[in-house]
Amino acid sequence: MMRTHTCGDLRETDRDRAVALCGWIDTVRDHGGLVFIDLRDRYGVTQVVVDPKESPEAWTRAQAARPASVVRAEGRVALRPADMVNPRLATGAVEVRAADLAVLNASRTPPFPLDDDAGRVSEDLRLTYRYLDLRRPALQRNLATRHRVTQAVRAFLDEAGFLDVETPILTKSTPEGARDYLVPSRVVPGAFYALPQAPQQYKQLLMVAGVDRYFQIARCFRDEDLRADRQPEFTQIDIEMSFIEPSDIRAVVDGMLAAAVRAAGREPPAGPFPAMTWAEAMDRYGSDKPDLRFGMAIEDLSDVFDGSGFQVFARAVAGGGRVKALNAKGLAGVPIRVVDEWTALAKTMGLGGLAHIRVQPDGGWKSPIAKFLSEGEKAALTERLDISAGDLVLFAADERMKANRALGRLRLLAAEAAGAVDPDALRFLWVTEFPLLERGDDGRLQSMHHPFTSPRMDDLALLETDPTAVRAQAYDIVLNGVELGGGSIRIHDPDLQARMFGVLGIPEDEIRERFGHLVRALGHGAPPHGGIALGLDRLVMLLAGAGSLRDVIAFPKTQKAVDLMMGAPSTVDARQLRDVHLTSAPLSAPGGEA
Ligand code: AMO
Ligand code: AMP
Repeated sequence: MMRTHTCGDLRETDRDRAVALCGWIDTVRDHGGLVFIDLRDRYGVTQVVVDPKESPEAWTRAQAARPASVVRAEGRVALRPADMVNPRLATGAVEVRAADLAVLNASRTPPFPLDDDAGRVSEDLRLTYRYLDLRRPALQRNLATRHRVTQAVRAFLDEAGFLDVETPILTKSTPEGARDYLVPSRVVPGAFYALPQAPQQYKQLLMVAGVDRYFQIARCFRDEDLRADRQPEFTQIDIEMSFIEPSDIRAVVDGMLAAAVRAAGREPPAGPFPAMTWAEAMDRYGSDKPDLRFGMAIEDLSDVFDGSGFQVFARAVAGGGRVKALNAKGLAGVPIRVVDEWTALAKTMGLGGLAHIRVQPDGGWKSPIAKFLSEGEKAALTERLDISAGDLVLFAADERMKANRALGRLRLLAAEAAGAVDPDALRFLWVTEFPLLERGDDGRLQSMHHPFTSPRMDDLALLETDPTAVRAQAYDIVLNGVELGGGSIRIHDPDLQARMFGVLGIPEDEIRERFGHLVRALGHGAPPHGGIALGLDRLVMLLAGAGSLRDVIAFPKTQKAVDLMMGAPSTVDARQLRDVHLTSAPLSAPGGEA
């Protein structure tokens, strides 16, 4: 038998047992003749002691053994002397007295220490040797958490009657707001598959097929600019249901998330999770994904400053804008340099300025604007913003959403500066009634979510006349200020779907070419349906307390979408290109892209 136990198994009750362990050498220490080896595997660490008097050959090999090598140790379990017990290790009361030690595979010196102090090592180096990086206990724990969360999600959805259906990876472009990854066809010259940005259309077509309740742990591909919470390929918990209302989906997701949180070894907050409309989220938190682990909500004080003697505020209100403020509790003491930085940030977000009040310990207001405010205005501010000694109040007077967004950013910075974020809290929130459409930088209308999202029927009349005022039957689930998932009730009426494409300015022939299959299917008895997709990577990241998606994905890509370990993407030979009817032009060649 190669091994009788893992490196995490042995306890005091195993005393005198003959055992064989296999694992990687964490450390080798030579203590006056005795050699101590910490042997590690996925399950834990066990101390192996090699005594030259008991086994001279094993001792010689142990002395020469190098860290990270793979070894097999045979021997007997002994209790450690009382003063050598390591309470931090599950196996810390015992050790294995080696009778034999075999080096199964000597390792080259690892390019970085394989302990959990990874901060010292460049991430590029860690990703190049990801198989070593993954040996670190923190990443092993994250992989296990991901596994347990995924299992819990599957079990929950299975129990709730959902069918797990796989959908194609080689498919056709579906709009989710990113660029596609394209795969050239060999058989159809000049044609390309797109990798799915999401299984969106397939899951809707499965509803037409009568599947009723679908889910998939689905791999998605999006060629977009990457951040800590975005990877070019990632995994969705993808869900679709027929004959439902948003509240049905919310109930399923609330239950599923509670199971996922428990699977990660944490206590879920009591459901149902709270909900607020998009408009309220923007007005109160300046964000469509409010972090509710702390307060500091934004107040609208426009009524107070309507006709005020302070021109900056009065003008904003007269011009149809708002005066909004947030009370950064307890931050009066931040250096003025920080307030200046925040003011500069607010200006980059389009604000004319950022007025502030610092409330002194004696209650006095230190502020460039205090002298312009009437006693009545001061009293109203004090009451509405709950101002007391030590507070820092920030004001934005501008167009409503501009003021919201700026204060929303500052709210996050203020909470961080105030240490107001409870790192152990899990605050879920549903944000509902998103706008259906928004204007892109080019002024054109685009779907806020995707073009299959149903408008609210009571807003339908506005679709052509005031499109950005139309609310969608769309919702996001937010956790601790991170967008965890989003979904909607879909359009199931083919005429409305065609009208929607029209509002988006997609020409008839393009609708036929890109979406003809879907519109046709809707005309073949599509049931009312809707769904959601949650980012599994993001969920695990938050539940595991990891700082980046890269810490919960076994083989992630860098910010440049590169797999450093495999060396992907890479060039291919001319023959392969010819097979798929492509030629490669040097980047600098005329007509090539710079
Ligand atoms: P959406 O585009 O909002 O909706 O995506 C759903 C969730 O997927 C996760 N996600 C990502 N995670 C990591 N890296 C990325 N690049 C990335 N992009 C998205 C997020 C996000 O909330 N088809 C719709 C869902 C539906 O309508 O049912 C969709 O894909 O957590
Ligand atoms: P000013 O009269 O321009 O010197 O501004 C007086 C104070 O109001 C300064 O503290 C400015 O930062 C602030 N301020 C100016 N414009 C705005 C604005 N749009 N919103 C909030 N505060 C502003």
